[in-house]
Amino acid sequence: MSVDVLLGLQWGDEGKGKIVDVLTQNYDIIARFQGGPNAGHTLEFDGEKHVLHTIPSGIFHKTSANVVGNGVVIDPVIFKKEVENLLTHKVDVKQSLLISRKAHLILPTHRLLDAASEKAKGKDKIGSTLKGIGPTYMDKTGRNGLRVGDIELESFYERYQMLRKKHEQLLSHYDFAYQQDLQTMESEWMEAIAYLKELTLIDSEHFIHEALRAQKTILAEGAQGSLLDVDFGSYPFVTSSTTTCAGSCTGLGVAPTKIKRVFGIFKAYCTRVGSGPFPTEIDDEYGRGMQDKGHEYGSTTGRPRRCGWLDLPALKYAIEINGVTDLIMMKGDVLSGFDQLKVCTGYTYRGTQIDHLPYSTEEGELQPVYTELEGWQEDLTLLNSLENAPDAFKKYIQFVEEETGVPVSIVSVGPDRAQTIELRSVTRG
Ligand code: IMP
Repeated sequence: MSVDVLLGLQWGDEGKGKIVDVLTQNYDIIARFQGGPNAGHTLEFDGEKHVLHTIPSGIFHKTSANVVGNGVVIDPVIFKKEVENLLTHKVDVKQSLLISRKAHLILPTHRLLDAASEKAKGKDKIGSTLKGIGPTYMDKTGRNGLRVGDIELESFYERYQMLRKKHEQLLSHYDFAYQQDLQTMESEWMEAIAYLKELTLIDSEHFIHEALRAQKTILAEGAQGSLLDVDFGSYPFVTSSTTTCAGSCTGLGVAPTKIKRVFGIFKAYCTRVGSGPFPTEIDDEYGRGMQDKGHEYGSTTGRPRRCGWLDLPALKYAIEINGVTDLIMMKGDVLSGFDQLKVCTGYTYRGTQIDHLPYSTEEGELQPVYTELEGWQEDLTLLNSLENAPDAFKKYIQFVEEETGVPVSIVSVGPDRAQTIELRSVTRG
């Protein structure tokens, strides 16, 4: 059997949580492959809103297994809170949540290093979520990291102390006071490690391979977005993991030949949280209108998200890198009420017209070239089929399909599970 992948094509916050939750009924296993608690995947159903940071978004479905893959980084404290919250919703976590022994652990000192490093960068800061993501992946590639499987070893505490000492040496180079916080953070962390030990830890790559041999269906769930990818994003204003389709191979141990459908999610407009280039940003009352109407505030940090028009060259770039087979368009409802909508179809770069994202996107060097499309006034939140949609909305979708050459298979017109319209079958088989 094969694996399908679902990932974000912009700067994150596209609505992956909602769509994974909707698609879970088609899969036996949902597996997160990268990132950590910097993510905030929001699900809404039965009038309740749930935000997941590290746990896969299939967790509310009784029949699916949910794997936290080796490519994920786990903060045990945040993880414990997430699990405790799921228990209040009667989710059988012991049975349905499986954690890779090869996933790396975020230490309290990783969080402190993240904060110290951002502070030292001053106005050049990345705008990190300060969850310790960057320092943890640095320790992973630097071969210093602690992994979930290490907590089962007798030498764990000793290894923890060694790494903490190394981090304290690094912290001493910064003008950053942390001693007071560390003690409290550490005791909370140790408590959470004991909690983690009681959950189901697995050799996830073997689990996935066996599942494939047994003809099980798997959906790999990405976090953040392709334009935040450490290689292909707007470096250095990126996260520290491979957010693109390739990350599902390294983050789960899945061979590229096993991947079948790649679902790419994008918003009908663009948002970005944190610093970094954003060619189509609207820094006026239109942008603030989108922010309010779309509730564009980070689900992890609460920070307002910057808003802008849909950027097609950036979308096409993400489609190519990921091999997207199906597009999923989110938040079309937020664009209701505009007379005219702008869509970026190219750029002027250092005075020349180009149709792709260039290497350098220094402020002022890259100006978007827009095509104007007719807007629609109708409220789309109760729409249950595309047939009943305003013509201008249909044309907007058609324009994206023609420009990208990829079909839009799902449109979402609100945060609830029910506000989802399937235009093309997404059922496996
Ligand atoms: P970090 O991954 O917390 O270090 O943050 C690096 C950059 O990625 C910052 O600009 C963050 O705002 C952004 N970022 C990280 N995770 C997410 C996410 O889940 N959604 C949107 N932006 C994110």
